[in-house]
Amino acid sequence: MNCDPLLWETHSYYEINKMRSNSCGELGNQQVNLEVQLCGWVDRCRDHGGVIFIDLRDSTGTIQITVDPDNGKNIFSIAETLRNETVIQVSGKISPRPKDSINKKIKTGEIEVIAEKIIILNKVTEKLPFTVSIHNDEPLSEEIRLKHRYLDIRKERMNKNLRLRHKTTKTIRNFLENYNFIEVETPILTRSTPEGARDYLVPSRVCEGDWYALPQSPQIFKQLLMVGGIEKYYQIARCFRDEDLRSDRQPEFTQLDIEMSFMSQDEILDLNEKLIAKIWKEIKNIDLSLPFPRISWKDSMDRYGTDRPDTRFGMELHQVNEIFKDSAFKVFANSIASGGAVKCIVVKNGNSLISNVRIKPGGDIFSEAQKAGAGGLAFIRVRDNNEIDSIGAIKDNLSEDNKNHLLKKIGANNGDLILFGAGSIDIVNKTLDKLRQFLALELEIIDKNNVKEEWNFLWVVDFPMFEVNTDENRLEAMHHPFCCPCENDIGNESSEWTNKLPMAKAKAYDMVLNGLEIGGGSIRIHKKLLQQKVLETIGLSSKEINEQFGFLINALETGAPPHGGIAFGLDRLVMLLSGEDSIRDTIAFPKTQQARCIMSNAPSEASEKQLKELQVRSLHQKE
Ligand code: AMO
Repeated sequence: MNCDPLLWETHSYYEINKMRSNSCGELGNQQVNLEVQLCGWVDRCRDHGGVIFIDLRDSTGTIQITVDPDNGKNIFSIAETLRNETVIQVSGKISPRPKDSINKKIKTGEIEVIAEKIIILNKVTEKLPFTVSIHNDEPLSEEIRLKHRYLDIRKERMNKNLRLRHKTTKTIRNFLENYNFIEVETPILTRSTPEGARDYLVPSRVCEGDWYALPQSPQIFKQLLMVGGIEKYYQIARCFRDEDLRSDRQPEFTQLDIEMSFMSQDEILDLNEKLIAKIWKEIKNIDLSLPFPRISWKDSMDRYGTDRPDTRFGMELHQVNEIFKDSAFKVFANSIASGGAVKCIVVKNGNSLISNVRIKPGGDIFSEAQKAGAGGLAFIRVRDNNEIDSIGAIKDNLSEDNKNHLLKKIGANNGDLILFGAGSIDIVNKTLDKLRQFLALELEIIDKNNVKEEWNFLWVVDFPMFEVNTDENRLEAMHHPFCCPCENDIGNESSEWTNKLPMAKAKAYDMVLNGLEIGGGSIRIHKKLLQQKVLETIGLSSKEINEQFGFLINALETGAPPHGGIAFGLDRLVMLLSGEDSIRDTIAFPKTQQARCIMSNAPSEASEKQLKELQVRSLHQKE
């Protein structure tokens, strides 16, 4: 037996051989009089007039250990020295607690262990940066939590989240395996996989001058598995994207990645909502109603200004171009004349809820609009008898007819506040989307922590194939360039594809929950010619296509089946299931907003020797 010499110092071979008989949290009334041997951490110690009570904690819960000097001076003097988080082994007998000290809140609250022996398995010799105890819920800065993550994980919150994450992946695996999916691993050292972010690159020592890219997703490999006849694939897959980080984005994150052959879009959506329903049932015991609503990308943009709408509340966007196109209020008329739009949202009872100060320059609502790129924020207040108020010229330039038309169209009544966006459609949508979300939280139309547990799942479908990259003045794939265009949009004549593709819709779909994109996928292109045309449409030359995607194109020529799939953000799913605000709280060892691990200090400098071996020279100037 391989024994730790440190443990040999403190106790004998036989004690090591069987460290514990039970776990703390599993014990209850039924075990009264049972002799047990428990291991765990000292959650806290209380000295009550000569009797010491230890709360002993392991991963299953806590139990009270009672140390009475009558049971031996030796164990009492050990108990007196115990600091919180000391790791101990306790032997003793389960006994019912006296009536006045029963704690109904915990499972073990009616019993205690009368200690007969205590062995210290490991002492705490450092000053702890924070209290781990379940009795302590003082808020901690994220920095200190991440710096001492191992202790943070020992605390109840992270421990619970990681167990919930495990239960989620277990449910996923069970569900998919019942449908004959198999898990296949795909490479981490690979070529660039275009998902729209920057790549993490790894220099190759052996192939001098060449670089691997870490996968932004297993997209191409999972398609090749379909060509390989796997038919039903899934993977809990680590993905890497060098992009700006937010609370729902990490540089390395985990996807539940799925791909299947010979299934229509409807079948894929149906299967995936059943999977999600199974997860919500297992984890939260909630029955989701199926099928999830579907909304086209265009409708979503028109009505919510975003492709991931939060439908827990209304406040939808209304386009009011026809009312303002001839208006003498030039800001609006000019926006429309130059190809833009005027849209608005109605804040019900906004007159009593929101003061002018907040909507005018300098106000918090105004600055939200500004952050989205708006130049200003026009508004109207609806008064009694359809009278209106506004600051600036908007009211004076609105005829009685147009005013009545406006109020009727957007359903605004006495007491309501109307907020307008005018300008390019992109900015208008962005502004009103941001205001809609900001106001829903501010006015507590939705509760931030979703205590009401409203789960508004939906599918956004019929995405455009492409969007314009204004910086580079070219088209780029809205999802990725392997999505299949809708046949109705491009027809069967390949000679027409060059003209028709740029305007085509894709057979792509996103799953959205309460305003967050939790997954996205598509039916893929499985024919060579169409794949080449799509890659040409995003500006790649034949040479580039061959260099970057030759292996995929070749594979498509060898009998690729029709296929499609999806990837869910696992971290985001767990965040929503656990009620956390950030995916960092669902990942054991996450990175900070600066993509650093402040515990291990990654990333760190490479030595001169390593760089030389890799034939890499750093341009970074040390300060
Ligand atoms: P997509 O890029 O939409 O699709 O990613 C799928 C899902 O992954 C999650 N996600 C992230 N989570 C945390 N941090 C990030 N930086 C991050 N980026 C994305 C989101 C998202 O919905 N290959 C395609 C899928 C497919 O077509 O099958 C893909 O990767 O929840």
